[in-house]
Amino acid sequence: MNSNFAQTDSTACLVSPTVAPLEGEFLKLGIMASGSGSNFEAVAEAIASLQLKAQLQVLIYNNPGIKACARAEKWGVPAVLHNHRDYKKRETLDAKIVQTLQQHEVNCVVMAGWMRLVTPVLIEAFPDRIVNIHPSLLPSFKGVRAVEQALEAGVKIAGCTVHLVRLEVDSGPILVQAAIPVLPDDTPETLHARIQIQEHRILPQALVQLAAGCFRNKL
Ligand code: GAR
Repeated sequence: MNSNFAQTDSTACLVSPTVAPLEGEFLKLGIMASGSGSNFEAVAEAIASLQLKAQLQVLIYNNPGIKACARAEKWGVPAVLHNHRDYKKRETLDAKIVQTLQQHEVNCVVMAGWMRLVTPVLIEAFPDRIVNIHPSLLPSFKGVRAVEQALEAGVKIAGCTVHLVRLEVDSGPILVQAAIPVLPDDTPETLHARIQIQEHRILPQALVQLAAGCFRNKL
């Protein structure tokens, strides 16, 4: 990508690039994670098994000591900590994240359990090149505690969604979804565990299809 960082006094200001759709490009992935990183692992395994033609360039994480970081080390992927607690403004954190993604020559960003709101600084640096995995059938149950929200609403079908990231939380074009039944004795933990099995299937699938141009009509 050819984005430029322009330095204006003390703040880094991103000059938005004009970026062509991802279609046909070899995916150079930057993963953003806040927790366990099981979705990071699913993407790494899909690459290792040649299901997904891509390379993991970098893991960005915001919580020191999380399991995602150990997983990155296991797969030989550089892991960079950007602790949100060190930043007063979301935009400043996002500018650092963009800088790291660009330094690692990322052309597609995957928010895999990234539990922070993002700003135009990140979104505009990677237009139509940021995907998110969310543990609900969007547009239902956006935001935090999605699995709990679904149980509280008494739905009989739950699931997960891979979508492109837009400024409004969990609102971008839907790429792939998977649905599963809610069982009568489900707790948030048991339901989330079954949803995650589907997440690990549809996240690599969505990336394969994104690179193949299957979502052309959504961009
Ligand atoms: C996943 O279930 C993902 O859907 C959810 O966080 C979990 C991360 O798991 N994301 C969100 O709730 C975003 N709103 P992981 O760290 O094991 O991949």
